Amino acid sequence: MKVLFAVSEMFPFVKTGGLGDVAGALPVALQNLGVDVRVLIPAYSEVLDKVVDLAPWVSLGDPLGAGEIRVALGRVPGSGVPVWLVGSPALYERKTGPYLGPDGKDWPDNHVRFAALSRAAAIICDAGTVLGWQADILHSHDWQGGLGPAYLALRGGRRPGTVHTIHNMAFAGIFPATELGAVGLPLEAFSINGVEYHEKLSFLKAGIRYADRLTTVSPTHAREIMSKEFGFGFEGVLASREGHLKGILNGIDGDIWNPRTDALIEQTYDARNLGKKALNKAALQKTFGLPINPKAPLFGVVSRFTIQKGIDLVLETLPRIIEQGGQLAVLGSGDAELEDKLTKAAKDFPAHVAVRVGYDEPLSHLVQAGCDGFLVPSRFEPCGLTQMYALRYGTPPIVRRTGGLADSVIDVSNVADGTGFVFEAAKGTELNRAVTNAIKLYRRPGEWRALQRRAMKQDFSWEKSARDYISVYSELTDSAPIRARGRRTKR
Ligand code: ADP
Ligand code: GLC
Repeated sequence: MKVLFAVSEMFPFVKTGGLGDVAGALPVALQNLGVDVRVLIPAYSEVLDKVVDLAPWVSLGDPLGAGEIRVALGRVPGSGVPVWLVGSPALYERKTGPYLGPDGKDWPDNHVRFAALSRAAAIICDAGTVLGWQADILHSHDWQGGLGPAYLALRGGRRPGTVHTIHNMAFAGIFPATELGAVGLPLEAFSINGVEYHEKLSFLKAGIRYADRLTTVSPTHAREIMSKEFGFGFEGVLASREGHLKGILNGIDGDIWNPRTDALIEQTYDARNLGKKALNKAALQKTFGLPINPKAPLFGVVSRFTIQKGIDLVLETLPRIIEQGGQLAVLGSGDAELEDKLTKAAKDFPAHVAVRVGYDEPLSHLVQAGCDGFLVPSRFEPCGLTQMYALRYGTPPIVRRTGGLADSVIDVSNVADGTGFVFEAAKGTELNRAVTNAIKLYRRPGEWRALQRRAMKQDFSWEKSARDYISVYSELTDSAPIRARGRRTKR
């Protein structure tokens, strides 16, 4: 089975969040199960700097009237996964990360930049491609990949099956309707049954409407997004596709996130010598400028600072952590107001709160290894990876019962063999209660150790999820490897 991923970020090339981790790890797991996966990604400067074994570029012409698009096959350093880079110096070689300009705002031509990604995917998928590799499945991700299934479905004729994965509905790729022509969509696509969303054009809606199958990244979130609370206005169209929507929990890369071998932490450890974790705690306290105190319960956060992640709830729970002699180490960036409030708290309570504003991959490993508990109080969380990393590092997570958090953490307050602390409503009072429970248990070292060990035993390997994706792909390939339009499954 040949599968083409179309995705806007991929670890270790470029990563702004969990999507990058997924695009880095899922193809490897699929490959291990015999799938021939290639990943299509824009040739950002960071990608060009890191790619290995790059073959000569092949022109795909100028399909959007925004200049020539080229592709070249290379490999990911380390994993060796084959990647097709979409080359357009004007669109991608900008050196400021994948989405934002130097002013911190979305690039004004993001619709063209990601239409070009999807257009290249559709061209590669065309039967009889000059590239000599015929995909059976196009697997696109998030709004940036949303136009891929639309181009193929609207073009008609024989085409591969299409699967679209929703990682985050808060980003719907919404642009003025007047850009329809610039992204190469026909006028007929601009309808309620097409790409229209409140009189604008939505790339996410394109993925939802035109892909043969939809997935999101946890079973709970698959149910949530069909409701008003979590559907961002897409709940109706998603509910109409319920029979073709599935939640598949993400895995984690057990080689990169492994406390036994992690070169980015102070001291490696595993479930049998958890005592060594204390060296990471001391190193983390030192790095963050907190008093080195082995007894203070130390909580960690590694996150984008957005309303999604409930960082305001973390601020609300600070007095509770401080009054109980605890500490908080936060790594992240995003919303300026949240950054300011956290920075001020660190200034006001330097013995208890420390913040590093920015993106720091190595430091994120030390936070996972060095903390006692890990906070993820998200308002919504399609899957969430940091709570799974925390479990693996014996750092019990404190999470809200939503999306993938609900599917990956078992509440120790209710279930004897729980793995973390789970609270219901997105309220400071509820997080306070969970943090208080965590500190209580932390002060009973035998029970805490048992909790850590149970957390570390959880299996979040990608293999199971990869099998689930293969079964989705198989629904589209079993009858006909390259599906004729007339034989498409009824939606
Ligand atoms: P999301 O994709 O919504 O941001 P996830 O939990 O799925 O949430 O993934 C976030 C990923 O980004 C994790 O790998 C996490 O460690 C990483 N991350 C988030 N913020 C930072 C940061 N400031 N520095 C380093 N890594 C970060
Ligand atoms: C999104 C979600 C996060 C998920 C990640 C990878 O960014 O916010 O919950 O883990 O995608 O699927």
